[in-house]
Amino acid sequence: KVRTAILISGRGSNMQSLVEAAQADDYPAEIVLIASNRPDAAGLDWAKARGLPTLAIDHKKYKTRDVFEAALQDALAAAGTELVALAGFMRLMTSDFVEHWRDRMINIHPSLLPSFKGLHTHERALAAGVKIAGCTVHFVRTEMDEGPIIGQAAVPVLSGDDPATLAARVLAAEHRLYPASLKLVASGLARVEGEKVITLHESNPGLPI
Ligand code: GAR
Repeated sequence: KVRTAILISGRGSNMQSLVEAAQADDYPAEIVLIASNRPDAAGLDWAKARGLPTLAIDHKKYKTRDVFEAALQDALAAAGTELVALAGFMRLMTSDFVEHWRDRMINIHPSLLPSFKGLHTHERALAAGVKIAGCTVHFVRTEMDEGPIIGQAAVPVLSGDDPATLAARVLAAEHRLYPASLKLVASGLARVEGEKVITLHESNPGLPI
């Protein structure tokens, strides 16, 4: 099994969906560390209560981004991490960190990339009047919310939606897409070729089967 660390900053519901998927005997990834840059992240409590290995690395206690990332790298190495999954991790990484984990670090973003990168995605999707929203799992590159796309899932935008109702519908899709995408990566069925992901098994883990 591929030794996978999950990085969070808050609620951790995507982390939970990965942890739960990884409990299956035939799942190709095992979760070896759940780390947060915020000691008060609710997701850490959930993981601790289940006896999972957790760590808080409070970014405010480090003078620079480099020393914060050095501490994070040490923790990842100590856990024998082979793959990193960002799950609501809200710190930008330096290009050194990102390059170290090139093609071995994935992220979930609550929009159909390349649309609506960055924060407040649901507000901006509603303001733009799109009729389809969704989420994307991608390999991480230095530019925010950029990188080869592993999978996407789509949901409808309904006429009465506000940012909260749309976010909830997208989040339910995230909880299906992320475990399916990590499975493809950890099993070696998805690999990067020419900055696109070639999937040997199925074209998009977000599609209903
Ligand atoms: C999720 O919707 C995730 O896609 C988003 O933050 C939320 C975290 O929720 N991530 C980003 O916006 C990253 N740019 P969670 O902590 O319950 O998984």
